[in-house]
Amino acid sequence: MKKISVAGTGYVGLVTGVCMAENGHNVTCVDIDEQKVQMMRDGRSPIYETGLEALMVKNIEAGRLHFTTDYQSAYKDAEAVFIGVGTPEREDGSANLSYLATVARQVAESIKNDCLVVVKSTVPVGTNDKVEQFIKDFLIKDVRVEIASNPEFLAQGSAVKDTLEADRIVIGTETEWAEKILTDIYEPFGLPIVSVNRKSAEMIKYASNDFLALKISYMNDIANLCELVGADVQDVARGMSFDDRIGSKFLNAGIGYGGSCFPKDTKALEYIARQNGYELKTVKAAIDVNNQQKSMLYKKASKRLITFSGLKVAVLGLTFKPGTDDLREAPSLENIPMLLSEGADIYAYDPVGAENFAKVHPEGKHGNGSITYVSNPEHALEDANVCFIFTEWGEIKEVSPQKFADLMRTPLVYDGRNIHPVKEMVEASVEYYSVGRPSTVDTRVKEMEIVD
Ligand code: UDX
Repeated sequence: MKKISVAGTGYVGLVTGVCMAENGHNVTCVDIDEQKVQMMRDGRSPIYETGLEALMVKNIEAGRLHFTTDYQSAYKDAEAVFIGVGTPEREDGSANLSYLATVARQVAESIKNDCLVVVKSTVPVGTNDKVEQFIKDFLIKDVRVEIASNPEFLAQGSAVKDTLEADRIVIGTETEWAEKILTDIYEPFGLPIVSVNRKSAEMIKYASNDFLALKISYMNDIANLCELVGADVQDVARGMSFDDRIGSKFLNAGIGYGGSCFPKDTKALEYIARQNGYELKTVKAAIDVNNQQKSMLYKKASKRLITFSGLKVAVLGLTFKPGTDDLREAPSLENIPMLLSEGADIYAYDPVGAENFAKVHPEGKHGNGSITYVSNPEHALEDANVCFIFTEWGEIKEVSPQKFADLMRTPLVYDGRNIHPVKEMVEASVEYYSVGRPSTVDTRVKEMEIVD
């Protein structure tokens, strides 16, 4: 059992702290927000994450998990301090490291014993060398302190599972002392450990995320071509997936990737490459395809309808993916303003994301358009002229083709997540456009040719 402190209680910090406690360590999570800290002490999570609150309650009751705003007492005798603060993107694509620097300084000024500082935040390659020097410069006691890089690979919605049952733990250290502390901490997890130097660990994080982003953009690129040549991207992906070298995951074409990691980490690595005089052409292409993909369905619908002015537009799904209330880089954030500026009357449904979305786009009039948040998909679809599907929540997948036909004024659906088999939409007489698959209009044309 080690005495661990965790700086930052966002997705990364909180999930790390809770999972460390679950593995028997004595953990104190630090945050500057007193209200948030009180909430967490009561076993309530500030983020929506499956299974997290149950584990919080269990470990608080077991006396292994604590929350505080008093960073000095949390850090002073910690054997390891994990840093999980955000590294948001700056306008030029570089990472903003100011939160990390603040915590590093607080740690330096607080620790009274030898301490390993473990950076979980995603940082540009080489940053941890600088953070180590920075901490050493600000130390007030003569203690041993080193930095380790320990990137996380958790996805929102499955963050607890991804941490407790991770495919691998990557640890980047420069000395045996640091490597031993970190391997001891992770020993109870019983997971494969990849031990490398610090820069390689930092690079593994970017290279992994960007590879996944590239995989999605590649499939989206192929999807767009499939539409032109009359192939079906879901069949193509299935056919590819049997090859072990390709694998079956992250081959779903759609309305582009969003979230807090892929958009940020692709731009950051591209920036790092540029700073080093290198052009990272593959990652650049992934970014370009994604930018194009997000407005693809809107453009298709615009062409078909000429104008959205005065139309009732149903929007199903606002978050960047199901299982989270996070809206960062969500396709809805790009498409809804375009629809509003065209004068659309939007009726939006999302099982958990509406409240956050309303903070950015409050309910009511927006120029000639308007937005109303509704509590079920049926309400959004009633009398609608057109429907956009942006997120594949279970509640949205359950809306049957017949429901679109029965409820909408004109059953015209643009599905960014390829939820329904095209054939079923044809049978229900819904005019249906998705990504990389024939539209119902094409299918009808083909069927008519066959009948003739
Ligand atoms: C991702 C990584 O999966 C995780 O390992 C990393 O630590 C952080 O970034 P996350 O952003 O939470 O996690 O979500 P993820 O499930 O990976 O989805 C990211 C985006 O890609 C979503 O917008 C999703 O809709 C999209 N996606 C995913 C596709 O468009 N197609 C796919 O096949 C898979």
